[in-house]
Amino acid sequence: MSNTETKTAMTRDANWIAVEDYRFPGGWTDSATGGGNSADKEARARALCRELEAGKILFFPKLPYEFPSDEREFLLSREWNELRLHKNVSYRPGDDVMRGFSGDHGTGTHLHHIVRNYSAHVVKFLRDFLRPYAGKWKLDFASFRPFEEEGRDLSLHKRNDLLHVDAFRLRPTRGGRILRVFTNLHATKPRVWYAIGDFGYVAEKYAADAGVSRFAAKNSALRRSVSRWAAGLGLARLSRTPYDRFMLRFHDYLKENDDFQRNSPKVRLEFPPGATWMVFTDGVAHAAMSGQFAMEQTLLIPPEALVAPESAPYRILEGIAAARLC
Ligand SMILES: [Fe+2]
Repeated sequence: MSNTETKTAMTRDANWIAVEDYRFPGGWTDSATGGGNSADKEARARALCRELEAGKILFFPKLPYEFPSDEREFLLSREWNELRLHKNVSYRPGDDVMRGFSGDHGTGTHLHHIVRNYSAHVVKFLRDFLRPYAGKWKLDFASFRPFEEEGRDLSLHKRNDLLHVDAFRLRPTRGGRILRVFTNLHATKPRVWYAIGDFGYVAEKYAADAGVSRFAAKNSALRRSVSRWAAGLGLARLSRTPYDRFMLRFHDYLKENDDFQRNSPKVRLEFPPGATWMVFTDGVAHAAMSGQFAMEQTLLIPPEALVAPESAPYRILEGIAAARLC
């Protein structure tokens, strides 16, 4: 591929930051915090939140949270062909519901137990590691992704191997951000991504053509109050802001756009076995090219919890449209 640089886990580069001062067990090391007092931890966490919001990927070569080895081995011990009707297994921590599994009861119960534990352990880690967001986020779904990404037979808009930014049809963020934490569980194979960390570049180049001004033009004081009222009542569709509607369109537009897919200055990233990484996937365009057996937890960070709101996609798009989107 042209215009593509290759980066591996061993390099520090402009796209990811290897976090070397936080581990499991133990958390922040003294070198991170100059002795470990909580104000220093807060400052270090805040600096990393700022990097994340600006489009960096935070990378941990080893698991930064608890994941019992027998549970990992169980996930890797089979091909999960009974799940092939679904894109992934999803887990909703809020109501403890697992979806996308259609095998035997015993296996389903065990899998449910594992994804529940996984989700709880990741959240416990994030409460410490991303403390500026703790208590302010909306805990979203977790997923188990057992299938090889290379060569998956999915419809164009569902394909993971085309560069895109994330947007959720039934979980509008209303200007908030989509944070995702991934772990490559595979024993030997890396998970390979292409990524573009600079949302400003992608938006400057493509948002006008994708119709951002049209979406902004549908914003009015009346629509904004209806959307706020619907959000208060939990009516997802009606609570969508023009920003949410545009991001759904932008997700599809980018996947459909051959010029963007071929010619954008993307970076190739290899996440080795056992690695964990976190990224705001509404801002960092990404494509999963290959890899099998990943876990993922999503959190929605509301606008008021952001430490660098000027980096938020809604703010960048509002600048381009010269109008409000939220
Ligand atoms: Fe995605």
